[in-house]
Amino acid sequence: MNNDNPVYTPIRDDEEELAKAEAGAESLEVERTDRWYPKFHIASNGGWINDPNGLCRYKGRWHVYYQLFPYGTQWGACHWGHVSSSDMVTWRRDPIAMAPTLEQEKDGVFSGSAVIDDEGGLKFYYTGHRWVNGKDDSDGQWQVQMLAEAADDDATRLDKKGMVIDCPRDKVDSHFRDPKVWKQDGVWTMIHGVSTSEKKGQIWLYTSENMIDWKFSNVLYESPDPDVFMLECPDFFPLKDKDGNEKWVICFSAQGARPNGYMNRNKDNAGYMIGTWTPGEAFKPETEFRLWDCGANYYAPQSFEADGRRIMYGWMSPFAGNAPMQSDGWCGQMTLPREVFLGDDGDVHTVPVKEIEKLRINTFEHVPRTIETNEEALVDEDKEAAEIELDIDLKHSTSERAGLKVHATLDGSYTYVAFDQQAGTVVIDRAAAARGDRGYRAARLSDDELQADELKLHVFVDRGSVEVYVNDGHYVLSSYSYPSDGPRAIKLTSECGVLAINRLAVHDIKSIGLE
Ligand code: FRU
Repeated sequence: MNNDNPVYTPIRDDEEELAKAEAGAESLEVERTDRWYPKFHIASNGGWINDPNGLCRYKGRWHVYYQLFPYGTQWGACHWGHVSSSDMVTWRRDPIAMAPTLEQEKDGVFSGSAVIDDEGGLKFYYTGHRWVNGKDDSDGQWQVQMLAEAADDDATRLDKKGMVIDCPRDKVDSHFRDPKVWKQDGVWTMIHGVSTSEKKGQIWLYTSENMIDWKFSNVLYESPDPDVFMLECPDFFPLKDKDGNEKWVICFSAQGARPNGYMNRNKDNAGYMIGTWTPGEAFKPETEFRLWDCGANYYAPQSFEADGRRIMYGWMSPFAGNAPMQSDGWCGQMTLPREVFLGDDGDVHTVPVKEIEKLRINTFEHVPRTIETNEEALVDEDKEAAEIELDIDLKHSTSERAGLKVHATLDGSYTYVAFDQQAGTVVIDRAAAARGDRGYRAARLSDDELQADELKLHVFVDRGSVEVYVNDGHYVLSSYSYPSDGPRAIKLTSECGVLAINRLAVHDIKSIGLE
């Protein structure tokens, strides 16, 4: 397709569809139960959400859009929900930004990204989705890349422009989506994920002079894993290492990979590789594929650059069949916004952005102490939203496994955030959970980390989730956790040996304003 005009084919009325969608989400909100609804994570007021979309800072506001099905708590014809903030601390719920109204997107406005153009306007590239047979996946999908523009300074109204890239359906096994756009050395550049007709997962790269007419340039990356058939939500950005050298980080959410040890335990898995890149060529990886997050519920992250920082949100995907929150009128939340950087160890780290500290309302510094063999100590009787900093003295700890029980309720259920000395891992273990998925997820520490004097755990407990940052974000684990009724205690525990603590601080966390 060579065009200076996108293909614009409306089939439904925008205002009507948006009003209907708003009413759909509101009717779920009215009935919503908040026992697990987040206080300080972004979620929809009602309905299902998945991937973060269109992340940006525009005219002084931070914007998070997200995949939304406003008519129920399962995935369905996707819309774009929207929240925004002036400080990344307190958020405002904005009107639903896009509903499927054009021919090419009639079964869903799928994931996409935002970019500021040369005139300072905000553009959105996203995927238009159609089922080939008009109803389901049995005959595949027809996916194309679309363009929209912010119509006002608050980016609450998006003007759809239409299709800018059609799908070469003879070369593609129907998956063709999730555009990410940036300017590289003066040239507009787009990547998106593809499943080729041989079912290989690839990332394709295009360039454009006018942001409308896009020319295919090259395959940026192809997964060497024969089981991986699609790379969803690709992202690609440079970071400086400690010596100031530029490295490129390629990110994707791989579909099809098989579990192997601690790797790829989720249905689909989001990760990255570090390497180098020369524009016009393929990405050259220097590392293996590593997970962004080792928890049970993490997928489809997207990053953006603002204030000289690389910031990333992920979706806490429920993955397994029925998620308990689905009966409460909502389903799905974002992770905290995470700053992405290369650590002195040469690996990618992700830590909560510094603004998150402004959510603290009370801090309790506990006296450093030791938990004796097989003992348990109450840290707090009841916390629904807390941030916990726990520095473990590795040289004086002998326990096989020790850590925090959070969401510990009177019926004996809890979620366990532990350092497993035998396995050399940090785990979120949900074997004692009252409901939801069981099992555990683990982050395997490096030899250096296991030999170090201290292990740092930074734990965020929301009403229905736990996020654990290990050693300044070298690893993160995010999992849902659905406590039972009644007080939600936090306890320290030590199994078979002592747990020596250098520092324990517990902060109360306030709401981000979306409840
Ligand atoms: C990832 C994903 C994307 C797609 C969107 C549809 O979770 O499958 O590839 O654009 O969700 O909701």
